[in-house]
Amino acid sequence: MRMPREATEATTVTVQGVEIPKLGFGTWQISGEACVAAVRDALEIGYRHIDTARMYANETEVGQGLHDSGLNRDEVFLTTKIWRDDLAPDDVNQALEQSLRDLRTEYVDLLLIHWPNAAIALADTLGAMAEAQDAGRARHIGVANFPSGLLREALELAPILCDQVEYHPYLGQADVLEVAREHDLLVTAYSPLAQGKVLRDPMLREIAEAHGKNPAQVTLRWLLDQPHVAAIPKASSHEHRLANFEVFDFELSDAERGAIAGLASQERMIDPSFGPDWD
Ligand SMILES: NC(=O)c1ccc[n+]([C@@H]2O[C@H](COP(=O)([O-])OP(=O)(O)OC[C@H]3O[C@@H](n4cnc5c(N)ncnc54)[C@H](OP(=O)(O)O)[C@@H]3O)[C@@H](O)[C@H]2O)c1
Repeated sequence: MRMPREATEATTVTVQGVEIPKLGFGTWQISGEACVAAVRDALEIGYRHIDTARMYANETEVGQGLHDSGLNRDEVFLTTKIWRDDLAPDDVNQALEQSLRDLRTEYVDLLLIHWPNAAIALADTLGAMAEAQDAGRARHIGVANFPSGLLREALELAPILCDQVEYHPYLGQADVLEVAREHDLLVTAYSPLAQGKVLRDPMLREIAEAHGKNPAQVTLRWLLDQPHVAAIPKASSHEHRLANFEVFDFELSDAERGAIAGLASQERMIDPSFGPDWD
């Protein structure tokens, strides 16, 4: 994949030989024309990694935004996800076909299982996804919301590149990160700003002030300094999208990084009844 001109080791993460922009743009709960404009604007700012899902019902708009940007398809790392009801092999194929049609592309860079579903054999789902990969419709495959045990199971069955999990200062992911280190996986941090909660945190505000930054920027920098980690903040406004992209022009000290890690308290923003047994 071709990277934007300014891409450097600091702004990309490489796992299994695949170079991925560390900072992605999350599109959950952005829909309609606002989504088209948000994706176009994010790409104009310089984001080269976009996260969507069939369940977000915005793939048509994400595809339109990509198209309007004028960028070549190979300049953007595009992720979508298959919903947990569509994990039987035929459904995987149908869902992916529809995603590709809506996104106006011949392939996604990363195709994820959105949530595990114990009622459907993981081997069957991953088998269908691996076939899609072989056919060139998904460059890479992976999972989301897989705790470490399930992730290890998935790794026995298919060439997993990524686990996308909730990860921010209030929720540590030590177990998933350990598997990532062992198997050279990407851990994509979703809800990286704890859905905005970090903005109100007194300690993060203090660190932010010391750097002339805001707590969202400090949080993103803390995440992106970690090996194997990417993050996909969502922002509805241009100002927030721009701020979240300006995170590579300052450095946190080891003491600041340690203090932020010390906030972890297993606090989840996303915990649906159908979720797995978390680590
Ligand atoms: N795999 C999964 O199951 C899963 C689950 C959840 C999320 N995700 C992905 O992760 C993405 C991000 O997660 P999320 O949307 O839950 O939460 P998030 O990115 O942690 O937080 C988004 C919130 O933070 C605010 N915000 C963003 N940048 C800001 C800034 N610079 N200053 C002040 N406020 C700021 C946003 O406000 P405005 O919108 O007003 O700018 C919004 O309210 C999603 O869009 C989706 O792509 C995946």
